[in-house]
Amino acid sequence: MMTGKVAIVTGASRGIGAATAKRLAAHGAVVAVNYMNSRDAAEAVVREIVAGGGKAIAVQADVRDAAQVEAMAATVAGALGAVDILVLNASINFPIVPFLAFRWEDFEAKLTGELKSAFFCCKAFVPGMVERKRGSIVAVSSGLSRHPGYGFCAHSTAKSGLDAFMKSLALELGPSGVRVNVVAPGLTETDATSFLKPEYKEGAAKATPLQRIGVPEDVAGAVLFMASDEARFVTGGYLPVSGGVQML
Ligand SMILES: NC(=O)c1ccc[n+]([C@@H]2O[C@H](COP(=O)([O-])OP(=O)(O)OC[C@H]3O[C@@H](n4cnc5c(N)ncnc54)[C@H](OP(=O)(O)O)[C@@H]3O)[C@@H](O)[C@H]2O)c1
Repeated sequence: MMTGKVAIVTGASRGIGAATAKRLAAHGAVVAVNYMNSRDAAEAVVREIVAGGGKAIAVQADVRDAAQVEAMAATVAGALGAVDILVLNASINFPIVPFLAFRWEDFEAKLTGELKSAFFCCKAFVPGMVERKRGSIVAVSSGLSRHPGYGFCAHSTAKSGLDAFMKSLALELGPSGVRVNVVAPGLTETDATSFLKPEYKEGAAKATPLQRIGVPEDVAGAVLFMASDEARFVTGGYLPVSGGVQML
C-alpha cells in the first residue's frame, strides 16, 4: 500500500506514533521517525523497521519550534527524499484539571503547542507536496475534539482547533492533489494513559461497544488507510477509532 512513498510521523518514538511508523514501513513506506527526547526509543523503532527489511531514520525535533522543524525537514529531504505522507501525531502535554483550576498559561501552552506543531510541519512539508501534486496529511486528533471530557478543556479545545485547521487545508489543498484527514482515537493504551487506574480502564472497556479500549496498532491501521491510495477520494474526513464509543 505504501511502496515508493516517503512518510514522516511526528512523535514516533512511543505509543501511537511508533505503531504508525512501523505499520507504514511494513507496507513499504520509507519512514522518518521523529522524536523530541527519547532518542533510544526512536532508534529502537528504526532498528525494528530495518530488521523487517524496511528503511527508516530517526530525526530529533521539538515540533513546536519552527527552526527545529525546518532543520528536520532538511535532514529528511537529504536522507530519504521528498515527503509524500505527513502524520501529525506528537502528543502535546497538558494538565488534566477542571476549568476552575486551570491556569491560562497551561491552557495557552496546550493550544499553541498543538497548533504550532501542525502549522510548522505543514509549512515545512506541504509546499513540496503541492509542487509534486501529490501528498497525504493525517492528523491524530482525539474523540475529545467533538465531545467534552471532565478536566480536558484544554485538550478538547486544542484538538478542535486542529480539526478545523485540517478541514481548511483539505479545502485549499484538494485542487493540488493533496488530501488531508483526521483520525480521532478514543482511550488508547499508551504512556499517556498509563496513569489511569486499571478499574477505570475496565469500566471504559465495558462501556465500549467492541468491549475493550484501544491499542496503538488500532490507530495505526486507521492512519495507514487514510494515508494510502485506498482512501484516494477521501479528504476533510474525521475517522473515530474508539471501538464505537464515538459514533458520528
Ligand atoms: N493515548 C490516548 O488515549 C489518545 C487518545 C486520543 C488521542 N491521542 C493522541 O494521539 C497522539 C499520540 O499520543 P500517545 O498516547 O501515543 O502519546 P505517548 O505514548 O505519550 O507518546 C508521545 C509521543 O509524542 C512525542 N512528543 C511529545 N512532544 C513532542 C514535541 N514537542 N515534538 C516532537 N515529539 C513530541 C514523544 O516524543 P519523546 O518520546 O521523545 O518524548 C512521543 O513519541 C497524540 O496526538 C494524542 O493527543 C491519544
